[in-house]
Amino acid sequence: MTSLHHLRAGIIGTGFIGPVHIEALKRLGITVNGICGSSQSARHTGELWGIPEVYGDYDHEAMYASPNIDVVHVTSPNKAHVQQCLKAIEMGKHVVCEKPLGMNSKETALVVEAVRKGGKKGPVFAVNYVCRFFPAILQMRAMVARGDLGRIIHVQGHFFQDWLLHETDYNWRLLASEGGKLRAVGDIGTHWIDAVSFVLGTKATSVFAHLETFHKTRKRPRSQVQTFTKTDPKSLIDYKVDTEDFGSVMLKFGKASHGYASGVHANASISQVAAGWKCSLSFGIYGTKASVRWDLQQPNEIILGRRDEPNQILQRGTPGFLEDVAHFTDYPSGHPEGFSDCHKMQYRAVYEHIASNRKTEPLFATAADGHHEVQLCEAILQSSRAKTWVKV
Ligand SMILES: NC(=O)c1ccc[n+]([C@@H]2O[C@H](COP(=O)([O-])OP(=O)(O)OC[C@H]3O[C@@H](n4cnc5c(N)ncnc54)[C@H](O)[C@@H]3O)[C@@H](O)[C@H]2O)c1
Repeated sequence: MTSLHHLRAGIIGTGFIGPVHIEALKRLGITVNGICGSSQSARHTGELWGIPEVYGDYDHEAMYASPNIDVVHVTSPNKAHVQQCLKAIEMGKHVVCEKPLGMNSKETALVVEAVRKGGKKGPVFAVNYVCRFFPAILQMRAMVARGDLGRIIHVQGHFFQDWLLHETDYNWRLLASEGGKLRAVGDIGTHWIDAVSFVLGTKATSVFAHLETFHKTRKRPRSQVQTFTKTDPKSLIDYKVDTEDFGSVMLKFGKASHGYASGVHANASISQVAAGWKCSLSFGIYGTKASVRWDLQQPNEIILGRRDEPNQILQRGTPGFLEDVAHFTDYPSGHPEGFSDCHKMQYRAVYEHIASNRKTEPLFATAADGHHEVQLCEAILQSSRAKTWVKV
């Protein structure tokens, strides 16, 4: 294994996910030297995590100027991503950018181009589609690629949450001007699509979608609130909602180079108003020999389905599972790994790629993958409006 420990990180964003990045990096033994956000929250986060360089006023350029930071993690809201990424690339920093890569494909194409121009000597760029690094996802990917499931016939699943069920639930993601024109699909649906694409080894090439906004009008506080935090019911004003609460999406996938998936049909339900579901990204991959099913809320197990033999539950850390994913799981069976661990594994993959001078396979999502997800979102919106299949 190549040592990662000479690489030093700087984090932009101090909300829900910024500290998840910090914790994962510290668990890997990577030094986090910089934190950037509003002056108050950057100072607070810096003190909490022992980060020496604090950059207030959202002054990411001041952080980029630090000679003590090699890799920048962009965890600000969506509309800030592209500008912060482009500047980081220009200043020679490697980047891990939160998803979605940007607000529209016109701007995300600029990131792809900047990365391309940098070439092999330029910065490494990753988009944080972390679900790829659940050991179960890596395991299912290996099973598909070596033909354990036979030829893949179809895929079915959902990504359900309920944190935006009530009209008083508020977050910047609800506003198209802050998060992008697609909300449920852009925010969580793209995780589902990226994970399924990764497992199949090929990308979606066309989509048919139906999107719905259940709460046409919602109530919001006068000021911003952090993700997953409650609002004060006394300070609410009405506003019209211009993003979807849920959607049904059908996708057709292209041809995978391993030969076991070509033209696969998939359908997914995506919702942020599904009572009782907190963070359930779930799918089944159905092949001519067998199927696999998995849910992020039980991330350590895969259900292996067979027609003519008993089904099996494959458990992380046990035979039949471990050998394909050994580098991306740290604890023995019976010691659950989950959300925070997949972040750790994703940053392990990215930092090893940088430290090895790109010798490791880039299993993480690239700028081109992030751009493709944004293109898919645009096609999904177009399809829902035109009620027809749209090619990506
Ligand atoms: N990969 C994942 O699993 C995952 C999970 C949650 C969020 N996300 C993504 O992470 C990003 C942040 O989401 P969140 O839930 O942490 O939001 P959040 O609202 O909790 O936090 C956002 C933070 O960014 C700060 N901020 C606002 N404008 C900024 C700017 N211009 N520069 C720097 N900081 C700025 C805010 O003060 C806040 O601290 C989003 O793009 C979201 O899609 C990814």
